[in-house]
Amino acid sequence: MTQQDPPQDRFAGRQALVTGGGSGIGAALVRALVAAGADVVVADLDEAAAQRVAGAVTGPGTARAVQLDVTDAAAVQAAVDEVVERAGRIDLLFNNAGITFGGETEDLSLEHWDAIIDVNIRGVVHGVAAAYPHMVRQGATGGPGGHIVNTASMGGIMAAGLITSYVMTKHAVVGLSLALRTEAAAKGVGVTVLCPAAVETPILDKGHLGRFHGRDYYLKGQGVRRPLDADVLAAQALAAVAADRPMLVTPRPARVAWRVGRLAPSFANRAATRFVAKQRRLQARRATSGGPA
Ligand SMILES: NC(=O)c1ccc[n+]([C@@H]2O[C@H](COP(=O)([O-])OP(=O)(O)OC[C@H]3O[C@@H](n4cnc5c(N)ncnc54)[C@H](O)[C@@H]3O)[C@@H](O)[C@H]2O)c1
Repeated sequence: MTQQDPPQDRFAGRQALVTGGGSGIGAALVRALVAAGADVVVADLDEAAAQRVAGAVTGPGTARAVQLDVTDAAAVQAAVDEVVERAGRIDLLFNNAGITFGGETEDLSLEHWDAIIDVNIRGVVHGVAAAYPHMVRQGATGGPGGHIVNTASMGGIMAAGLITSYVMTKHAVVGLSLALRTEAAAKGVGVTVLCPAAVETPILDKGHLGRFHGRDYYLKGQGVRRPLDADVLAAQALAAVAADRPMLVTPRPARVAWRVGRLAPSFANRAATRFVAKQRRLQARRATSGGPA
């Protein structure tokens, strides 16, 4: 995918693989890609979910489901190689599968740390290691090499506690993406990292430790009334890829907060500390009342 491609050719007939494609943002990316004419492999740990997503799409592109655990390097390599064997190339890899744990860090076991590192960091590394060499080879022929899109988060560019392990992994994904982009560009390969704030997906209700409640954290604590719609994010993501942008930080208030944080990091860290204190009060009230904070 290069800047020179006419917009209508950006995704039509492209060969894509989306990890975590069975739910939320991944499913929305699949729908957007197929609507734009791409042929998409919907890869997910949850095979039934991947099949539901693949079965529900309407053309002009196509979608087929595969079961894939991104923590299994050999399986990720096999899934990518299979796309190349079938179609002769892989144009787009979306390293999107991710998990979260929210709560006090002393409640995290080493198993939690290992699990989130395995999925959110190693899962992305496995995708890059499997697809990037193919894309470099494709780019060496003078055509477009391909594009890698990694789903990080606002948590990858700003740091607030109670999702500390998640923030660590997403910072790693942002670092990998931005660094790789600087060496991949000369080889015809694009890299874009997605850094959305809260998006309405099932993840908001997963991974809660102790009395922590993720949905409350993301909405009440941040003063956000409604999370971003996943299909809106997917459309923005494809536009960012088509324009070969390094990062997508969305929505606008998140972009403003990020820029302020870059200008004044100490201020941002103090604000995040206050945010954590407010969260603890909200979550305590929620636990006492037995209902939403
Ligand atoms: N929803 C948000 O608020 C939000 C905000 C910023 C970033 N993100 C990121 O977006 C990505 C997608 O999250 P989502 O919100 O759609 O969550 P989701 O829970 O709806 O979807 C995640 C999908 O990943 C799959 N998955 C989990 N572990 C896997 C593994 N080992 N191998 C393959 N698939 C696996 C799950 O089965 C699920 O289908 C994640 O990386 C997440 O961190 C989400």
